[in-house]
Amino acid sequence: MQKLAPAEFPIHDLIRERWSPRAFADKPVPPDVLRSLFEAARWAPSSNNEQPWAYLVATKDDKENFAKTLGVLVEFNVNWAKNAPVLALAVAKLTFSKNNAPNRNAPYDLGAASAFLTVEAASRGIFVHQMAGFDPQKARQAFEIPADWDTFAALALGYPGDPESLPQALKDREVAPRTRKPLSEFVMTGQWGHTAPFLSK
Ligand SMILES: Cc1cc2nc3c(=O)[nH]c(=O)nc-3n(C[C@H](O)[C@H](O)[C@H](O)COP(=O)(O)O)c2cc1C
Repeated sequence: MQKLAPAEFPIHDLIRERWSPRAFADKPVPPDVLRSLFEAARWAPSSNNEQPWAYLVATKDDKENFAKTLGVLVEFNVNWAKNAPVLALAVAKLTFSKNNAPNRNAPYDLGAASAFLTVEAASRGIFVHQMAGFDPQKARQAFEIPADWDTFAALALGYPGDPESLPQALKDREVAPRTRKPLSEFVMTGQWGHTAPFLSK
């Protein structure tokens, strides 16, 4: 299923095409494709080139780690993410390696890496559904994540599936139109709340 973004202004097709499905096809993602997705994440920019990201990845054939990752998610997300062929946890290092000073941009950089990954995925017909609905403490314990790292998102990814495979409430959300705030609400110039003039010129 396609859910093209109804963009107000022209954007790249890959960005229009990317969306977050909950229905996934029963089709594995080959290892070479997975390598390319994380290679794309690798080339994201980061503060001081710290690259403060790590991903704990479980493919469905790795039953133990797949179950371990599902065990970290809230029930709502387990209901649909269990059908994805790949799950991952996105983890950021909260201190700079060179001096242990706090790196307040680490979650920002992790988000950039994940965004690169989602766009690379879209170019290959693979879709990523990121999740905040998980327990970071459970993740820390289950995967022995060090104290200076923290998990900021879980990811389910794979080829899109049939919305009919979902329970009714999720099916409705799957086929609902994609919506966004207008640019005028978040692109400002000069002073907070003042819409950037180029939006209307
Ligand atoms: C950091 C983050 C956390 C999210 N958490 C969840 C979640 O726990 N469960 C869920 O079903 N969707 C989750 N989403 C998906 C968003 O609801 C979705 O990205 C948003 O509605 C926009 O839809 P689109 O990605 O299809 O454009 C999350 C997305 C992001 C980026």
